Amino acid sequence: MTAAAAFQQCINPACGGTFGIEEVHVSCPKCGNLLDIEYNWDRLSVPKSLSFFEHRWATKGTGTAGRLDFSGVWRFRELMPFYRTEDDVVSIGEGRTMLQQADLLARELGMGQGKLLLQYEGLNPSGSFKDNGMTAAFTHARIVGAKKVACASTGNTSASLAMFASLAEMQGVVFIGSGKISFGKLSQALDYGALTLQIQGDFDACLRRVRQVAVDVPALGIYLMNSVNPFRLEGQKSIMLRILEARDWEPPDWIVVPGGNLGNCSAFGKAYTEMYKLGLVKKIPRLAIINARGANTLNVLVNDRGMKWNAGKYDASIAQKHYAALDESNYHPHTVASAIEISRPVNLPKALRALDTMKGVVREVTDDEILEHRAMVARWGFGCEPASAASIAGLHKLLEEQVIGRNETVACILTGHELKDPNATVKYHTGVDMKSVQDMAPREEPHGKLSNRPVQVADDLEAIVRALGGDAKMIASHKVKQSGANVPVAEF
Ligand code: F0G
Repeated sequence: MTAAAAFQQCINPACGGTFGIEEVHVSCPKCGNLLDIEYNWDRLSVPKSLSFFEHRWATKGTGTAGRLDFSGVWRFRELMPFYRTEDDVVSIGEGRTMLQQADLLARELGMGQGKLLLQYEGLNPSGSFKDNGMTAAFTHARIVGAKKVACASTGNTSASLAMFASLAEMQGVVFIGSGKISFGKLSQALDYGALTLQIQGDFDACLRRVRQVAVDVPALGIYLMNSVNPFRLEGQKSIMLRILEARDWEPPDWIVVPGGNLGNCSAFGKAYTEMYKLGLVKKIPRLAIINARGANTLNVLVNDRGMKWNAGKYDASIAQKHYAALDESNYHPHTVASAIEISRPVNLPKALRALDTMKGVVREVTDDEILEHRAMVARWGFGCEPASAASIAGLHKLLEEQVIGRNETVACILTGHELKDPNATVKYHTGVDMKSVQDMAPREEPHGKLSNRPVQVADDLEAIVRALGGDAKMIASHKVKQSGANVPVAEF
């Protein structure tokens, strides 16, 4: 495979800047918009049909190719061919997840037999869909020789990053909002040896800081792993492939997914755009993105303010005004679905594009709806975390509105594992809030040989740089953009 067959490209058609795969950018160096990974497909060997991938079920196992065939991401590697050689690929056996035909839950929702499919991405090694993206971003990090990798997280990204960093022998750093992360996830980041910074702020603040550190303090050598990294989304395309694989390559009528930072939905739109262009699918399913009411930026922008992709000429001022109003009222997102407690989604333009490609709709659901539907998935399925159940609550709403027909085939993406947040589950069933009990619990000095304590840090760049082993001079020596807002792309 020739590396030049793959490149990075700005999503803004008016810019269209292209950059080499070996370069590291968190946004387009020319205009600040998001980047895609693009391919010159005619220079690559692309399978003529999706059934090509079936031979990999027999070849999974040892050796380089077998290692990749075993992965639920890399067994589709011809559709994400940005790496140089197969040895570049950092894989831990991710993506071996399953599609359940959830007939009992379908019956509860008034849907026909075989019509409701649940894609359990919580069955990944670190317990969420993030592993699909991390394997691809770590592969790029290895290509560029990164030693330190970092992310902001509401929980799952941190667990996934920490696991991959440990196994790829890189230093993992996770930025989490103070008090904003479930114990299940905090425990993973600590256990896998990541430096865990608890920033006094929410996810949006953490993301702003980690981007600042990655871009504006280059001396620290930090490679950014959030979904603004376009390589993440290449791996997340595989979720669509596995659903197709489980259905004999027949697309469902609908894909329903929770929306937080809007990386997943963006990856799904890209996967279908590419497969359609390559003649690998004849039909593109429709997309429903579900926000939590307390973190409903996409729903407000699309349904109330009419924001659209508009062939790449979307009206950025609509988002700018919304964010200015959030700042003015000092609004912070709040939802029981902590994974999607995000009000400034970095992938907004790509999500608008995915809505356009997949004739998508957006809805918001309340915390009560999320909790009831989470309990239903557990009662009549294998269970999931609250954010994942937003997809089922959203499906229920769309069935009632008759936007989705009861005889259409719907695949809901269950993004994370039920055991991420047992507190939410126990509280739902018993009324006891274990988290407040934990907060009051007596503390003692940790003394295990591998004890890895989180570090509390103010929401302040200098304090964060110090916590990372740097000093103020590193900041002073480089131009720092001190923007008050969390700037997802230059235009916002
Ligand atoms: N579902 C779960 C379980 C998640 O962890 C996340 C994101 C989402 C949905 C939203 O996905 O950003 O692609 O729209 N969690 C991030 C984290 C933010 O830090 O773990 P998206």
